[in-house]
Amino acid sequence: GSLNAKFVSHGKKFWASAADQGTINIASNQALLKADFGGVTPENSMKWDATEPNRGQFNFAGSDFLVNWATTNGKLIRGHTLVWHSQLPSWVSQISDKNTLTSVIQTHISNVAGRYKGKLYGMSTSLKNEILNEDGSLRSSVFSNVLGQQFVNIAFTAARAADSTAKLYINDYNLDSNNAKVQGMIRVVNSVNSGGKLIDGIGTQTHLSAGQAGGVQAAITALAGTGCEIAITELDIAGASASDYETVAKACLNTAACVRRVPSQLGFITSWGVADVNSWRASSNPLLFDNNYQPKAAYNGLLSIM
Ligand code: XIL
Repeated sequence: GSLNAKFVSHGKKFWASAADQGTINIASNQALLKADFGGVTPENSMKWDATEPNRGQFNFAGSDFLVNWATTNGKLIRGHTLVWHSQLPSWVSQISDKNTLTSVIQTHISNVAGRYKGKLYGMSTSLKNEILNEDGSLRSSVFSNVLGQQFVNIAFTAARAADSTAKLYINDYNLDSNNAKVQGMIRVVNSVNSGGKLIDGIGTQTHLSAGQAGGVQAAITALAGTGCEIAITELDIAGASASDYETVAKACLNTAACVRRVPSQLGFITSWGVADVNSWRASSNPLLFDNNYQPKAAYNGLLSIM
């Protein structure tokens, strides 16, 4: 069976992959997406620079392609990403007025999340992507500098209004052991959710290097303590051995919040691409299929433990 079929047999919903028009149009890559993956996340096409390059001027060509392909092929979709300091057009980063920035965030979210209303499982949905520093404090960005932590509430409230069924995720990297950043994430999530649940899930990107997988279980367990569902959203492991991948998969398989317990609670691992040749970290061969779209030892290892 395929990787996704094995994962689903454990009560997990999907093993997914990042994709977009460029990688979908590569025949060997598309065949693997169809056969081995149950869901997709737009790698770049739903980001702010792609969807609203100029204020009020929306471009959904790339994200429509991804969403249409996924819908036609029965793949679940996680959105990515509504508010992020990176791949952000300069017209947004130049805003210094609170009311203007609030309204710009709200307009962006109502247009992007509104366009795909009802079609997305989650808007990692990275709703808010990468808001923390390594010490767990709020990262400096136009959003935090102008609005403080309140921008998180503004963004999640706007996303909930635009699409009441999408699971709203906060997403970050280096949440790979029970470290200060994990503690910072727990603090922010608990604080934002104290007035009512706005954040449904925490996405841990899980961009690792070989030998770093050992802390993932502790991190996921700690994050699950918030009562949020947990998803591994951008998995890749530089120079990975089979056992690195197995350690990460087991951490999700072993964690209730990462397991489907009720229909609304779906476990999820997303690989950040299919084959090494198309990876954003291509030189470190971090994915499950090689430069020739052949399965690697890590792929076979995952099938053997599931
Ligand atoms: C990366 C894409 O893979 C690249 O193609 C792009 O040039 C830069 O962004 N964290 C995220 C993802 O949330 O959106 C990033 O994706 C990788 C890091």
